[in-house]
Amino acid sequence: MRLGFVGVGSIASAMVAGLRASTDPPSEIVLSPRNPAAASGLAARFPEVVVAGSNQEVLDRCEMAVLAVRPQVAESVLRELRFRESHHVISVVATFTVERLRGLAAPSVKIARAVPLPSAAQLQSPTAVYPADEAAMGLFERVGPAFAVETEEQINAIGAASSVVASYFAFADSVTSWLVQRGLSAHPARDYVSRMLPSLQEAAAHAPGLGFRAMATAHATPGGLNEQILRHLESQGLFHRIHDALDEVMLRVHQRSQTTGE
Ligand SMILES: NC(=O)c1ccc[n+]([C@@H]2O[C@H](COP(=O)([O-])OP(=O)(O)OC[C@H]3O[C@@H](n4cnc5c(N)ncnc54)[C@H](OP(=O)(O)O)[C@@H]3O)[C@@H](O)[C@H]2O)c1
Repeated sequence: MRLGFVGVGSIASAMVAGLRASTDPPSEIVLSPRNPAAASGLAARFPEVVVAGSNQEVLDRCEMAVLAVRPQVAESVLRELRFRESHHVISVVATFTVERLRGLAAPSVKIARAVPLPSAAQLQSPTAVYPADEAAMGLFERVGPAFAVETEEQINAIGAASSVVASYFAFADSVTSWLVQRGLSAHPARDYVSRMLPSLQEAAAHAPGLGFRAMATAHATPGGLNEQILRHLESQGLFHRIHDALDEVMLRVHQRSQTTGE
């Protein structure tokens, strides 16, 4: 398969690195030329990656194309492109609806949206796909587990939920900097937290039948230290605030998908 990327920034770079490291890499990956440092850097790293002369050339050389520009420019980028009916167009542009994509990528009928994460580079991106056709699922399964979602609202919600990444790192920083205040050196403190948190995810992955609330309860021994911190944070309304923040992001997603994506 020849795969193209229109828009070569953070997420496209992560996907290209992951795809090249996967067990079933595309035969050729064609990149759009803008952001030459990123595009030519990838082409220098991987012999099967080439940089096209224009966005249109990406489409002309590929059967499947991933649109990975920012929402603000997605419409103008798509308007300048000529698609074939046989093109498979996959957009990772947050908030850009399938209906709008269909209109702008006509006569192509194979359209999908996806929400990959930068961990695609390490073949560990959980990627939501909608509509989940076989080819789109197959692409993202190469860089981690792909999740078929059933409605546009669900993929919008996944996009919103994936916006907790910065807050996750801020949480990790809060624990780390507290350790440093208690006299640990910065490096071992960071190392400890960066190993402790993923080890909890491993525990969750090994108990797929157990909800996160049940895991929290299981780890909050009555009268113990875990329970003390959990109760303290709950009494401050921290977890309700996470829902509030996600609701606000979802509102913005809805507003954006009604407009040009600004
Ligand atoms: N980053 C993530 O974790 C993530 C995850 C899932 C989905 N997404 C979505 O993926 C899209 C890209 O995000 P990103 O973080 O990769 O952004 P980014 O790093 O800013 O990459 C966007 C790239 O598009 C290029 N570009 C701008 N105008 C273009 C044009 N007319 N033709 C071709 N390329 C053009 C930019 O080049 P210049 O630098 O020269 O402007 C830039 O290299 C966004 O819609 C975002 O919602 C991102």
